[in-house]
Amino acid sequence: MGRLAEDIRSVRERDPAARSVLDALLCYPGLHAVWGHRVTSVLWRAKLRLPARVLAQWIRFFTGIDIHPAAKLGRRLFIDHGQGVVIGETAVVGDDVTLYQGVTLGGTGKVRGKRHPTLCDRVFVGNNANILGDITIGENSRVGAGSVVLQDVPPNSTVVGVPAHIIYREGQRVLITDPREVKDPLSDAVIALSNRVEELEARVRELCGEQARAAARNPLTAEEEERTHYREELHKLRDYVQMGEGI
Ligand SMILES: CC(C)(COP(=O)(O)OP(=O)(O)OC[C@H]1O[C@@H](n2cnc3c(N)ncnc32)[C@H](O)[C@@H]1OP(=O)(O)O)[C@@H](O)C(=O)NCCC(=O)NCCS
Repeated sequence: MGRLAEDIRSVRERDPAARSVLDALLCYPGLHAVWGHRVTSVLWRAKLRLPARVLAQWIRFFTGIDIHPAAKLGRRLFIDHGQGVVIGETAVVGDDVTLYQGVTLGGTGKVRGKRHPTLCDRVFVGNNANILGDITIGENSRVGAGSVVLQDVPPNSTVVGVPAHIIYREGQRVLITDPREVKDPLSDAVIALSNRVEELEARVRELCGEQARAAARNPLTAEEEERTHYREELHKLRDYVQMGEGI
């Protein structure tokens, strides 16, 4: 009973919309799914694998939350809204973790054995975020809504994006200044573009320097060059005018 009470308390603490104990008890499918998982987990450990999985499917039907009976969940897990949450077989979830709707703690489909993530204590995962593979999200870290996390996240950090990158670490804003830091399938193209821009900037600086040096050698040179160019243009035009005179 103590654990049920702390689960209800954690819902009320983390969601201002939960106005009473009854509200939390009746209107939070996340709570029902976590309680259901405690039963499926006992069945799983008692080697009643198929009944455990069948019951997990029924719980999914009623709550929209799919938790594998073998997943290890810590205390006071709060799944808000819940619909579409998937927690894979080898996932490990610490204490006081918060997950929103659509979160997947999934495998990458490439390995067997431990293939789902580990979320340390007090991790917060925004809606529709995907955390894939045997990676660890450090204590107190936050994953932004819609992110796809494919690498370990250090403690006390915030990650966002696809693929996710760190925007806050230990309370300090982290800015990406080098495209090599973005590990994305498009990174190579961005790196190539950035290198090309640097080359062109260097060339422009070189050309400006040459021009400035020439002007410095003889201040009249540039003006004289301009006059010559003007005279040549005038000469060409004069030819055209003379051709027109015979018509
Ligand atoms: C990740 C999150 C926790 C960060 O919150 P925060 O610390 O207040 O961060 P900020 O608002 O200062 O954002 C910092 C930067 O990250 C960007 N950012 C924030 N969240 C982002 C996200 N989910 N995806 C992509 N970029 C995001 C912001 O645009 C901002 O970029 P900028 O500095 O270039 O303008 C929050 O944005 C989030 O996603 N919360 C989840 C909310 C949720 O799931 N609610 C469900 C309700 S049903």
